[in-house]
Amino acid sequence: MAEKVTGKRWVDGGPMRLGVLISGSGTNLQAIIDAAEEGRLNADVVVVISNHHDAYGLVRAEKAGIAGEFVDRAEYTTFRAYNARILEILLEHEVDAVAMAGYMRLLGSEVLDAFPDRVLNIHPALLPSFPGPSGIRDAWDYGVKVTGVTVHFANEQFDDGPIAAQEAVRIEEDDTIESLEAKIHEVEHRIYPMALQWLAQGRIAIEDGKARILPFAELPGR
Ligand code: GRF
Repeated sequence: MAEKVTGKRWVDGGPMRLGVLISGSGTNLQAIIDAAEEGRLNADVVVVISNHHDAYGLVRAEKAGIAGEFVDRAEYTTFRAYNARILEILLEHEVDAVAMAGYMRLLGSEVLDAFPDRVLNIHPALLPSFPGPSGIRDAWDYGVKVTGVTVHFANEQFDDGPIAAQEAVRIEEDDTIESLEAKIHEVEHRIYPMALQWLAQGRIAIEDGKARILPFAELPGR
């Protein structure tokens, strides 16, 4: 099967127009905004969508001068209609790619099909271990010695899809759940902008369900 290279059209173009989906505090959103402002990520966050009206991430968006939208699942009779509204907002803002950053719901095929291989998610464990909403706590409770962070392409399952980036975090004997959370978040805030930059650079090739990061020299057309 031929490799599909994601994001190719941005390689020599302007910044990737990014939509970010959140549910909560938005520290990953902030890391993405900061990386874009500091020139480490060739992207403009053009819209932030939250499924909670009181998500602090919406305040972060406002402070950064980014459009924020609250989409209430309860207002839509079907999951399909709810996702159709999310898609409508992403298209209104001419989004090129989507980052799920603590968005605690699945994305429907309506959205995923509109952005093939251009929707990333972050998970606070080394997938496929400890999927689900409490990845840090589950790894801690299990007693593993190594956990970490995964950035992966989203599909219609929770915490599934080709892995773009992973970094391990050791659980030391003197760690607490709080110190582990802090270490995990530090890694998240570093590797999510990095993986998004690879996407913006058109450097992620997906083949047989696996993502491969291309060195610049291998980029098609170079
Ligand atoms: C992060 O740990 C992320 O991995 C998980 O939810 C948390 C969101 O945190 N999916 P924040 O809203 O980015 O602060």
